[in-house]
Amino acid sequence: MTILAIESSCDETAAAVLVGAEVRSEVVHSQAIHARFGGVVPEIASRAHAEQLVPTVRAALAKAGVDRAELVAATAGPGLVGAVLVGLSFGKSLALGWGVPFYAINHLEGHLLSASLEPTAPAFPFLSLVISGGHTTLYLAHHVGKYEILAETEDDAVGEAYDKVARVCGLGYPGGPQVDVLAQRGNPAVLKLPMPRPSSAPTNWSFSGIKSAVRQAVERDPHLAPADIAASFQATVARYLVDRVTHFAAINGVSRVAVGGGAAANSAIRARLQQTGLEVFLPPKSRCTDNAAMIGNVARLHHECGFAPSALTTSARPRWPVGQA
Ligand code: KG4
Ligand code: ZN
Repeated sequence: MTILAIESSCDETAAAVLVGAEVRSEVVHSQAIHARFGGVVPEIASRAHAEQLVPTVRAALAKAGVDRAELVAATAGPGLVGAVLVGLSFGKSLALGWGVPFYAINHLEGHLLSASLEPTAPAFPFLSLVISGGHTTLYLAHHVGKYEILAETEDDAVGEAYDKVARVCGLGYPGGPQVDVLAQRGNPAVLKLPMPRPSSAPTNWSFSGIKSAVRQAVERDPHLAPADIAASFQATVARYLVDRVTHFAAINGVSRVAVGGGAAANSAIRARLQQTGLEVFLPPKSRCTDNAAMIGNVARLHHECGFAPSALTTSARPRWPVGQA
């Protein structure tokens, strides 16, 4: 089955063509325009998606050597509602025009299952750590469509904390990849940062305290080297995240752990996970950040499991807990 998948929930306009689990083409257009504003501007994102979507989809079809698909999938949320709407409306129109089924896909489920697109897909059940610009959640994936939340952030998401620390270090947006690179040259022992235990559920995460501790340290000592700040922050975040993952792996008796989401491209988080002795499933870095192949992958799995296609009246959802209809 040939699947055309579209992703437009934030600042990446992306399209991919899959045949089964094989990705035949992938095109991702990242909207560089937001860098000058230090973050994603929703209205600009929607307009840029409207400009880029048709050429992006055309390029994906051409690269795959096809002119239509047998199933169309598009992200229907969560995300910036105006941005989601662009890809979702176009996806629905294409499905209607081609007379093929349409699947409205949850962006988070895309990240959650992205390791399942690789040749070494994890068998169910497995833990999936989704760490992106807006989400930080550890799921227990029982099977396709059934996910249990084990832990989540009570404030900032990991990617968001990275972007804020990047600003403190004088770096641009998106900051995560830049902090990651800078951290390679720094000493992680320079700053002692807290690893908070949120009171509502002590095994949840809280990143705002770590981020504020970084800011306060810089205010106290403006001569701190940005590389040392980056390295200390990165080492703390990686240890904090992975401690919780190993805890939940042990209490659930699950040894397989997948990751997804932009911050899953982080070198320290990947390295630390690989030191746990757990069976770790790391998608390539390009499939951690937003892409359409992960959306096509969820559609493929839903279709294989006999899930019904979505109605063409499906609307864009700014919030959408993963696993809910
Ligand atoms: O999944 P994603 O592309 O978009 C959302 O769904 O949010 O994630 C983007 C986030 C940004 O906050 C970005 O700074 C972060 O992922 N990110 C990273 C790295 N690459 C991207 N954070 C830490 N280290 C990285 N290497
Ligand atoms: Zn994402």
